[in-house]
Amino acid sequence: METDPAFERAVAALRRGGLVGMPTETVYGLAALATNADAVLGIFSAKGRPSFDPLIVHVADAAQAWQVAKPDPVAERLAAACWPGPLTMVLPRRAVVPDAVTSGLETVGVRCPDHPLARALIAAVGPLAAPSANRFGCLSPTTAAAVREQLGAAVDEVLDGGPCQVGVESTVVRTGPEPVILRPGGVTAERLEAILGRAIPVADRATVAAGLPAEAPGMLASHYAPRAPLMLRDGAWPGDPDQGLLAFRGHDLPTPSGPCEVLSRSGDLHEAARNLFAALRRLDAAGVTRIVAEAVPAQGLGLAINDRLRRAAGLG
Ligand code: TXA
Ligand code: MG
Repeated sequence: METDPAFERAVAALRRGGLVGMPTETVYGLAALATNADAVLGIFSAKGRPSFDPLIVHVADAAQAWQVAKPDPVAERLAAACWPGPLTMVLPRRAVVPDAVTSGLETVGVRCPDHPLARALIAAVGPLAAPSANRFGCLSPTTAAAVREQLGAAVDEVLDGGPCQVGVESTVVRTGPEPVILRPGGVTAERLEAILGRAIPVADRATVAAGLPAEAPGMLASHYAPRAPLMLRDGAWPGDPDQGLLAFRGHDLPTPSGPCEVLSRSGDLHEAARNLFAALRRLDAAGVTRIVAEAVPAQGLGLAINDRLRRAAGLG
């Protein structure tokens, strides 16, 4: 893959401070060289992202992570058990990380992605700062086409690594003696609790805000949103054909109905997570006036799916 012309163009673009759409196992990222502050600032303008929302640094392995962040025993255990994979850890940063990446915070989010193209890019150029490759506040892209649609003009290259296998963003954990989940994501709370042998609370927004100079927009209520207003299902499905329906298993959908999407007929939360953002994107493309979505079981990846649905509904 290193001899692929698109890959070579992506490496060259990153080295000269450009931006690259990068596939990962969770969602596509908008990558820049983490040590190049000007390149990192380019990410914020391309996304229309406020400068106070810090970026994640993507690394090749734990050894490289500890060059940008200071580990603690919990972080070392989680890295050994979960990387490469959809876990981001917030740790004290080292001086090599520019303020542009951390929005001036003394901590930095680090993660080792589980995708061959992302890993090859990092191996070629070094640690990459990357948020999800969407316009600020919009749906995260899970295909290269979705990146081109939202950010095509602003990126130097988009690498096509196929549809993302996890489909929701990484779990963000603040480690240390009292670890806290700042954002539910691709590694389940149950798995983290099994690894550490203790309960790990999910931070509410007030807790998160207390640790940040300004509330991190990733934790804001209105986020990950489709264009059409989204409501959570409350009672019966609406029958109005102008409304789009987002169902989990879809067994009780009305017939006929307007546009509808089923996340997983067999009730598999992994399949549901993988389908989530593309399904919302298709409902938007169908031009519905409103999307009515049902919550999924609140376990495993269901926590991350319900979190994204609540935020899309502006409920936080
Ligand atoms: O799966 C993912 O995490 C994807 C792929 C591309 O790696 N990236 C991603 O990045 O979702 P982004 O920027 O869209 O979301 C990162 C979240 C934001 O909510 C941000 O506020 C939070 O992580 N975050 C980053 N650094 C932080 C820090 N030092 N302290 C607290 N929160 C932080
Ligand atoms: Mg994002």
